[in-house]
Amino acid sequence: MTALLINRKNYFAGAWQTSDSGRTFGVLNPATGGLIGEVPDCSEAETNRAIRSAQLALPAWRAMAADERSRKLKKFNQLIIENRKELSQILTTEQGKPLAEAEREILYAASFVEWFAEEARRVYGRTVPGPTPERRIIVTKQALGVCAAITPWNFPCAMITRKLAAALAAGCTMIVKPAPETPFSALALAELALRAEIPPSVFQVITGDAEKIASALMSSTSVRKLSFTGSTEVGKILIRQSAQTVKRLTVELGGNAPFIVFEDADIGKAVKGAMFAKYRNAGQTCVCVNRFIVHESRVEEFAAGLCSASSALKVGNGLDSGVEVGPLISIEAADKVRALIEDALSNGAKRLSGENISAIGPCFIHPTILSGVNKSMRLWNEEIFGPLCAISSFKTEEQALELANDTEYGLASYFYTKDLSRAFRVAEALESGCVAVNDTVFAFPQGPFGGMKQSGYGKEGGQEGIEEYLTTKYVMMAV
Ligand code: SIN
Repeated sequence: MTALLINRKNYFAGAWQTSDSGRTFGVLNPATGGLIGEVPDCSEAETNRAIRSAQLALPAWRAMAADERSRKLKKFNQLIIENRKELSQILTTEQGKPLAEAEREILYAASFVEWFAEEARRVYGRTVPGPTPERRIIVTKQALGVCAAITPWNFPCAMITRKLAAALAAGCTMIVKPAPETPFSALALAELALRAEIPPSVFQVITGDAEKIASALMSSTSVRKLSFTGSTEVGKILIRQSAQTVKRLTVELGGNAPFIVFEDADIGKAVKGAMFAKYRNAGQTCVCVNRFIVHESRVEEFAAGLCSASSALKVGNGLDSGVEVGPLISIEAADKVRALIEDALSNGAKRLSGENISAIGPCFIHPTILSGVNKSMRLWNEEIFGPLCAISSFKTEEQALELANDTEYGLASYFYTKDLSRAFRVAEALESGCVAVNDTVFAFPQGPFGGMKQSGYGKEGGQEGIEEYLTTKYVMMAV
């Protein structure tokens, strides 16, 4: 790639740098398997320098008037929007999602920067009457300090800005370790942040050895918080590691979203919603539907609608015009989805449509629909992360809820009904941090996104988002 925003160095300690060892690692285009470029393979020493630098940059950034921080974030937002074509090109090339979807992600990423630029000016404290006449209790909010983020490949820009903008708005500095599959988007954001005159070392990007970089971040007493989006397995390791320095965490982990279609649902709307909630990013989001749970009286109608809409989707290289479903991120990821399909078929599921093997390339899977899915199958308990629709059926509302909540995850749930009482009842009973009723979109900065159960804790977005980077101080004032 020869784009202007492509940077093959890391940005830390006030400069664009290579790794100390000079080692690099390659980044592949999942659509073609071709090498896009190499980035530095950094380790503990470089991370420790970034931490020191973030600490040095902290006092001035934290002390800056909130209005001024807000202005810089607004400039950053504007630059992301102005450069959205180039950013989308980078994103599609390294991540695979169709170009139009990549551009929507860039605008989504920018929307977090705009939102938190506004929130920066609304970090309020309060005064509480004291227990005796001469006492006043003053409650203030202060920036936590140096923060870190470990971000995933499925939203190479938006999952960074959702953390970064909240941290910077609160007055914190942040070091980001992007996923090895998608470093170029992160490095492009670092370049734009510098152009927005966000001071050097307020935002730094380090690529390289995940374990070593994480170990340096987690053992540092200067790093006061880590925000992580990724697997529950890695999240648990980070939770354990955070104990050594009592670090604050936001962990946005795996999902296993149910999508319930009640007997009174508008099937046309449910199918339309399902298409978005299943195929966004080729099924590779933590909030993508994992299990369709459809009333037995409507299951055939719903499945037929889903088959017909799914078979019309154009699969291919995200850079080609009209493509709606791109490749999965890697051959291993595609092989896992193929294994889930085979496991379900061998346990009694029926294939209604779709193919496992694609002539386009090894990372591609064509939208696949299975019916007759049940709890004995791996896809009931494992996150699918691919364009595979798994349909099961139910008889009663109670049974639908039992099936929907039959998972250790608790990030997102969807359901379709026209019954208002049921809408409230079911929304309250679903064990997940985000619930959509007759809708499927959570991708807005206004909402406090996050899970419960083993999907993690902490919120990103909403008024809660900035709180994650603030600490509350209680001042007892005798006057
Ligand atoms: C995810 O974390 O995978 C989903 C993020 C989003 O929907 O914005």
